[in-house]
Amino acid sequence: MIIAIDGPAGAGKSTVSRLLAERLGCIRIDTGALYRAVALAATRAGFAARDVPELEAFVTALDLRVTQDAVFLNGEDVSSEIRTPEASRSASAFAAVPCVRAGLMELQRRLGRSAPSVLDGRDIGTVVFPDADAKIFLTASAEERAKRRLAELRALGLGGGLSEVLAEIEARDMQDTNRTVAPLRQAPDAVLVDATSLTLEGAVDACYAAVQRQLDQGRE
Ligand code: CDP
Repeated sequence: MIIAIDGPAGAGKSTVSRLLAERLGCIRIDTGALYRAVALAATRAGFAARDVPELEAFVTALDLRVTQDAVFLNGEDVSSEIRTPEASRSASAFAAVPCVRAGLMELQRRLGRSAPSVLDGRDIGTVVFPDADAKIFLTASAEERAKRRLAELRALGLGGGLSEVLAEIEARDMQDTNRTVAPLRQAPDAVLVDATSLTLEGAVDACYAAVQRQLDQGRE
């Protein structure tokens, strides 16, 4: 079983996907963490976010492991390092590079097929698993997303003001939506969940109900 959760930055995909996966008895695969780890590795190796054949080979050769709450890059736990605003910007820049996306495709498909999975990202329902059993497009207003992201950053001991975080989120949405390969967009058969005025529990309930409906339809 494959459940795809796509949506813009800070919509709550991570937390909702984790809780949804628990409720459905699935594993959760954070594909954004893969892009973040790749950006970190490529930056460390001196690559710029440009489409060069060496970059795809570099990406496919990386040893990337994701557990329910950690990400390992060649054995090193990089879970905290990939969560800074700078890492977000860099992830989005490298994610726009076609050879980077190509390099991560096989890994995402392999992980998704290894067990019943909830995968969250930007292009899971449109490109990685267009035949997913259920698809959700989780969004919220930019202001609400900025508030949530600010709270997450504060919890990590990172600073920044609301207007700064809002500007970052809007810039990243713009970049993710306007790239040529696998842009962020709602799949035609995805259910839209707007979490602007929902609590976390409310968002999980709405996603769970939408998934159950799609699974029931698939069984008919
Ligand atoms: O948590 P947040 O929504 O801020 O970001 P994320 O899901 O960790 O993704 C970080 C960046 O990776 C995004 O801004 C996208 O550019 C990229 N990404 C992608 O292109 N495709 C995916 N399936 C997942 C992430």
